[in-house]
Amino acid sequence: MAALYSEVILDHFRHPRNYGSLPAPDITYEDFNPLCGDRIRIELKLKDKVVEVARFRGDGCAISMAAASLLTELIVGVDLNEVEAISDDKLISALESDIKPSRVQCALLPLGALRAGLKDYQ
Ligand code: FES
Repeated sequence: MAALYSEVILDHFRHPRNYGSLPAPDITYEDFNPLCGDRIRIELKLKDKVVEVARFRGDGCAISMAAASLLTELIVGVDLNEVEAISDDKLISALESDIKPSRVQCALLPLGALRAGLKDYQ
């Protein structure tokens, strides 16, 4: 496992940040990877169009869970316009791992859920 995944992925997978649910989220979206069925739910609490609290729940592989954990850290305290602008490359490079093309969908699962949730909200 250590040879396959970066320290960032291992750390976030073993010690996920912001895991859980919110009592009254302003944004909620659950998405799944059609290739494997793994699911990630993202929940956000907003204040003045800034992400005040972010939570995620899910049942997925190490890459998808680590990406979700890392993504929640990236967006707390950030304006929704900037959140919306987070690119695939930004999240993937933040994972500091050479993710194989076949696993890119795992890494982008939480970002897809976030984007869909933002779209529903707006
Ligand atoms: Fe299902 Fe990675 S194997 S999201």
